[in-house]
Amino acid sequence: MAQTQSIEHDLRNVSISNIYLGSGSTDESRHEVLTPSKIASQSAQIRLVSSHNEVYEPCDDSFALVDALLADRTNLIGLKPTFCLEIGCGSGYVITSLAIMLKSGIGGGGTQFFATDINTQAAETTTSTLQSHGVHADIIATDLASGLQKRMEGMVDVIVVNPPYVPTPEDEVGCDGITASWAGGLNGRSVIDRILPIAHKLLSDKGWLYMVTLTANNPMQICRVMSEYGYSCRIVVQRSTEEESLHVIKFWRDSSKGSAASTSNEGCSSSSWLSLLSFSSFWKNSSRH
Ligand SMILES: C[S@@+](CC[C@H](N)C(=O)[O-])C[C@H]1O[C@@H](n2cnc3c(N)ncnc32)[C@H](O)[C@@H]1O
Repeated sequence: MAQTQSIEHDLRNVSISNIYLGSGSTDESRHEVLTPSKIASQSAQIRLVSSHNEVYEPCDDSFALVDALLADRTNLIGLKPTFCLEIGCGSGYVITSLAIMLKSGIGGGGTQFFATDINTQAAETTTSTLQSHGVHADIIATDLASGLQKRMEGMVDVIVVNPPYVPTPEDEVGCDGITASWAGGLNGRSVIDRILPIAHKLLSDKGWLYMVTLTANNPMQICRVMSEYGYSCRIVVQRSTEEESLHVIKFWRDSSKGSAASTSNEGCSSSSWLSLLSFSSFWKNSSRH
């Protein structure tokens, strides 16, 4: 997590793994081969990302999230989102990359971008990052999506979140400044568990949520919660560093899904969630997503 001093999104090491589980249908042809030059032109340039010592610098998890969006670029462009939202925007690297990517794919005016952060310095930093890349988003310094929830209920087509997911003592959650970037409470789930119902309320019928999780967060259980809301999911990017194993999971509403999630895997260990998921109904219809 974010304790790095100098960061480069090393394009030579970008590896995007699209993992389709469940139905066994893989449709690799829908995904472009992303060369470093294409990636550079569709994501924010690190050297133009504003920084502040109390704001999370783009790190492996930020890069994984942007790589997931790039891997899903064709689908995102095809979605023609009207409203996109990042919760917890930090430096603005992710929302800026998303705006650049969609602007280059579907042109200017059609999509409006919003980003929130509880850290006011992050909100300011994001504004500068967006400006330096010539794209725009409305930035709101707020807790999660407070202030947006009522007016945007059921309207948001894309939500992206790299939440504070590090397991910490509960009293560190919600602290000021940089601590808010990583402090995730018990199993790193305190903030994540607040985000899930909010995302569900905000997402439109065609809406997608992309969320970074750590193995310690028990992503299988996160998928189960979202399944109860009627979502299917797949892993778009999976990446292991020396310290952690990250997954970027994409969720979408699955009209064929019953409301009650299977509880048969209750109690499974997080380390085995991938193999369990491959047998789960969560992944039904993944070839369209
Ligand atoms: C891991 S950092 C990610 C920053 C950025 N999205 C990125 O990927 O580089 C998590 C961000 O969430 C913000 N955050 C934490 N709790 C929040 C809350 N309750 N509401 C809004 N933002 C929050 C933090 O301030 C931090 O900027």
